[in-house]
Order: sequence, then structure tokens, then C-alpha cells
Amino acid sequence: MAKLLGAICTSHIPAIGHAIACGKENDPYWLPFFEGYPPVREWLEEMDPAAVVMIYNDHGLNFFLDKMPTFAIGAASQYHNDDEGWGLPTLPPFPGDPKLSWHLIESLVADEFDVTTCQEMLVDHAFTVPISLLWPNRSARRFGTVPVAINTVQHPLPTPARCYALGKAIGRAIESFPEDIGVVVVATGGMSHQLDGERAGFINKSFDLHCLEKIVDDPRALTAMSIHELVRAAGTQGVELIMWLAARGALDGKVTRLHSHYHIPVSNTAAGLLLLSANGRRQSAVLEPGRAIRAR
Ligand code: DHB
Ligand code: FE
Repeated sequence: MAKLLGAICTSHIPAIGHAIACGKENDPYWLPFFEGYPPVREWLEEMDPAAVVMIYNDHGLNFFLDKMPTFAIGAASQYHNDDEGWGLPTLPPFPGDPKLSWHLIESLVADEFDVTTCQEMLVDHAFTVPISLLWPNRSARRFGTVPVAINTVQHPLPTPARCYALGKAIGRAIESFPEDIGVVVVATGGMSHQLDGERAGFINKSFDLHCLEKIVDDPRALTAMSIHELVRAAGTQGVELIMWLAARGALDGKVTRLHSHYHIPVSNTAAGLLLLSANGRRQSAVLEPGRAIRAR
């Protein structure tokens, strides 16, 4: 059976993709951000997942206001990105994992999550930037991807509690996949930011730090919030934290925080990073003293 190895939550700001493309990781502006990532890259090298379920929000590249699914899952053999206007490079296609996609779709629909199934899907910066960040030499790694898109563009948005429940169903689906593979869940978005309107530039550090704590040991403190309370606390785009709740739901039960990082600002956004493993699973073997990965 497949094993869910852990979950990574990370921001997906387009400027990060630009910094990677231009080799600016060590510039004074960027270094305090990029230095959060090596422990997670090292963990991924060690785990070497065969498949990655990417929970992210499309910003208008694949879905637009005319048709906006609340939850959508890709079931293609590969995914392309495209020019979104951010000046990001077009990347080689990302391999899919259609067998795992269809298993997730079957399992989620049986679990009463009526997802939109996409046999063609363009993936935007929220999918591509975190993959470039987490796998700097992606071409050397052969992992399939399953995109799971959650609507954060057009209200009504799904509630934090609903996203957490979706994540739980995704976790159950992964662990019932009848192939002996390791799977990692990556959630992208957040932390607090607002790109438009009167509060453009809004960042809420105390709320972000509260999220980084509560999501580990008390996710119900966050799933009890309404979507409008989340917008108020995190900003109109900070609402992307619902992806983090889905990833936390996938792990269910008690988890271990292996690493976290927080840096303000990157572009208009508070950049956050969290690596969680499920307790009692085989990845706890990485928690040896002296390793770069910190257990807290
Ligand atoms: C920015 C942040 C985002 O989450 C996004 O999707 C686009 C831009 C930013 O801060 O520039
Ligand atoms: Fe975004």
C-alpha cells in the first residue's frame, strides 16, 4: 500500500520563481528566504517520494470566472505551465500520475467530495514555483504529480473546515492506493497577504505565527474560523492558508513538526514554510540528532 510520508506547506510567490530563474538565491534580499529551504530539500532527497499531491489554487490560468470549480483534480499524464504575465519561464512539462489521480478521484467521490476531473490542466505559479523551490534538480528525480486545485478566486470559497475534511479524504485515498510507493503532500499559498483594495500590502505577523503553531497541534483553532474571518485575519490572498489546512487534514491525528521558517516580506507576502510528518510512520527515522532537520 502507498505510504503518506509527510506534508510540506509553502508560499508560492511568483517573484521566487523569478529569483530562481535569475540565480539570485544568495542576494541579500533573497538569502533570508531561501535559507529556510535546504532542510526540506534534504528530507525530500531522503524520502524520495514516487508521487507528489500538489494542493494549490489556480489564479486564472486554467480556470476563470466563467467556470470555477470549488475542488478540481488533474488526471493527465503531464502538465504544462504557461505565461501568466509574471515574466516566469515556461518550464519542461511536469509528469502526472494518472493511476494515482483516478484513485484519488474515485475515493474522494465515494467520500462525497464531488470534484471536477481535469484530463487537461495548465498549472500556474502556485504549482510550478514550489516545485522549483523544493526540487532544484527536478530533472534528476522521477516523481509523478497530482494537482488538486481549490478555488480562492471567486466567492463563495470553501470553508477552512471543508478544506481540512477534503485533506482527510485525500489522506485516506493515498493510504488506500494499492501500490507500494511513498507519497508526499505539498500545499502552496499564504501566508498573510493582500494584493488589492484598501488593505493592499496587509501582512499580519501575529496571525501567521498563531497559524504556524496551531496547525501542528490544534488545527481546530483554525478550522473553526469562517472564510470571512480568515480573509480579515490573513488578507484577501492570505485566504490561501486553506491549502495548508487541507495538507494538515491529510496527515490527520498527531503530527511532528520537522522544520518551519518564516520571513517577511517576499514581494507583498509573508513567506512561510512548514514540514510535517505523521507520527509513527517510517519517516521518523530522519530525526537523528545532528541532522539538519529539526524536530520541535
Ligand atoms: C504574490 C503572492 C501570491 O500568492 C500570488 O499568487 C501572486 C503574487 C506577491 O506577493 O507578489
Ligand atoms: Fe497566490
